Amino acid sequence: MTLQEAIAARHSVRKYIDKPIEENLIKILQEKVDECNKVGNLHIQLVTNEPKAFKGKMAYGTFCGVTNYFVMIGKKANDLSERVGYYGEQLVLLAQTLGLNTCWVGLTYNNIKDAYEKGNDEKLCCMIALGYGDDPGRNLRRKTVQQVSNASDITPAWFKKGGG
Ligand SMILES: Cc1cc2nc3c(=O)[nH]c(=O)nc-3n(C[C@H](O)[C@H](O)[C@H](O)COP(=O)(O)O)c2cc1C
Repeated sequence: MTLQEAIAARHSVRKYIDKPIEENLIKILQEKVDECNKVGNLHIQLVTNEPKAFKGKMAYGTFCGVTNYFVMIGKKANDLSERVGYYGEQLVLLAQTLGLNTCWVGLTYNNIKDAYEKGNDEKLCCMIALGYGDDPGRNLRRKTVQQVSNASDITPAWFKKGGG
């Protein structure tokens, strides 16, 4: 599956089956995490086989069977959210090409502090659930760039350029 196909195929998935991610796939994902951290000056961490972060009743969005996730951390900065979004999207699309499903999660998780590292000068922006989905999802209506972005002259060149 190409990146372009991954963009068309991807849906958020909140329900996952009990199937560990193969070591060779974890290695590919970890390499991409390392690359994103280096290029994007981030501290993203891939957590595997950790079932507590998404257990229990949540206020919004019900998650089931999540045992793997990316923790999206970086040094506090004005453009941190932007970089987390840009590089996080590269991770979810790579995961899709590997046959894995994902869901961005900003609220509905438990903070399992010993599962990841975070310095005092860093911020945990959100998490991305990862695994084999129980539900292939459904096709949503596609939106135009103008509907989802207000890109203007002050938009950073790297965002306008897209890709990775
Ligand atoms: C930064 C961010 C945080 C989110 N936080 C949550 C969350 O805490 N709980 C949840 O159920 N969905 C959350 N969502 C929504 C889903 O990740 C997803 O975007 C939404 O369900 C639309 O689905 P789609 O990706 O298939 O279009 C969040 C999305 C984003 C971008």
